[in-house]
Amino acid sequence: MLITQQDKLTNTIDRLVERHGGDRSALIPILQDIQEHHHAIIDFAMQTIADRLSLHPVEVYAVVTFYAFLNEEYHGRFVIRLCRTISCDMAGKDAVARQLRNDLGIDFGETTPDGRFTLEWAHCLGMCDQGPAMLVNNQVFTRVTPEGVHDILAACTQAFGPHTPQTAEGLLV
Ligand code: FES
Repeated sequence: MLITQQDKLTNTIDRLVERHGGDRSALIPILQDIQEHHHAIIDFAMQTIADRLSLHPVEVYAVVTFYAFLNEEYHGRFVIRLCRTISCDMAGKDAVARQLRNDLGIDFGETTPDGRFTLEWAHCLGMCDQGPAMLVNNQVFTRVTPEGVHDILAACTQAFGPHTPQTAEGLLV
C-alpha cells in the first residue's frame, strides 16, 4: 500500500494527540512538535489538528499566524533569528546581518535552496546587555561578531551532516 506524505503527517499528529492529549490545551505543544520536525505547519496539518482537537480550523490558523515561532511556510533545518531591537542595533547587529547574508547567500525572510538555513529578524530576545543577540533554533548566542558567524554556521553545517539537497517536500519525510 502506498503511504503518502499526508498519511505520515496524520500518523504523526495522532501520536502527538496521544502524547499531549486531545483537548484545546494540547494545541500549542502539538504545533511546536510539528514545527520542529516538519519545519512547517501546512494547511493539511492545521485541518487535521483541528479535527482531532475538535476545534475550528480558523482557531488553529489564528494560533499559527500569531506566534513567530510557528510558520505555514517551510523553514530550514536551522532557523537563525537576529535581534534587531535598539540595544542589539547599537551593539553592531548590522555587521552581523551583513555577514549572515554574505555567508548564506540569502536575505532575511528567505531559506537557502538546500533547506538548511532560514534567516529571520527577531525582536528583543531578553539579552540586551549582551548584544548583538541571535537565536539558532532554540539556542541563544550573545555578543555575536561577524567572525563568530563563521563558527556558528560551521557548527550547524557539521551537525547537518553530508550535503543532501532537499526540496521543501523532502523535508516532510
Ligand atoms: S535588544 Fe536585542 S536582545 Fe534585547
